[in-house]
Amino acid sequence: MICLGDLMKIVYDSLTGKTKHFASQLGFPVIDIQDCLDSNVQGPLFLVTRNAGYGEVPESTLTFMRKHYRKVIGIAVSSNRNWGHYYGAAGDTLQRIYKIRLVVKFDGQGTESDVEITRNFISKHS
Ligand SMILES: Cc1cc2nc3c(=O)[nH]c(=O)nc-3n(C[C@H](O)[C@H](O)[C@H](O)COP(=O)(O)O)c2cc1C
Repeated sequence: MICLGDLMKIVYDSLTGKTKHFASQLGFPVIDIQDCLDSNVQGPLFLVTRNAGYGEVPESTLTFMRKHYRKVIGIAVSSNRNWGHYYGAAGDTLQRIYKIRLVVKFDGQGTESDVEITRNFISKHS
């Protein structure tokens, strides 16, 4: 029997719905990060996360990554340019700590181009 492996899933960390909207446009099943914190989830996974003030990584994303980072193939981060120097900094931090590619920093819920860049990355790496 040929094993095709597990299908890619998108995990999103959303406070006001923008990362959820972005995640739902990528063309893969989506999972709320809150449903992965205590339970197991099969990889491969792509993470869509956000910032929690002064470029901090949200606690939920940190908890998720500690448990599941080995399955994460890439990261996208919803950001806001009003934060200036801290624009999308949570994504930079995750990339630095886990050596996982930050594919795109996007404003709010992202543009069509942000979605396409992310889709292309996932297709090449899944
Ligand atoms: C309390 C708070 C702090 C934020 N801090 C930053 C930040 O440091 N850098 C940044 O680029 N965006 C920052 N943002 C913007 C969020 O990353 C953005 O609003 C969020 O990703 C939207 O996603 P969501 O609708 O899925 O929650 C902040 C937003 C909030 C509400």
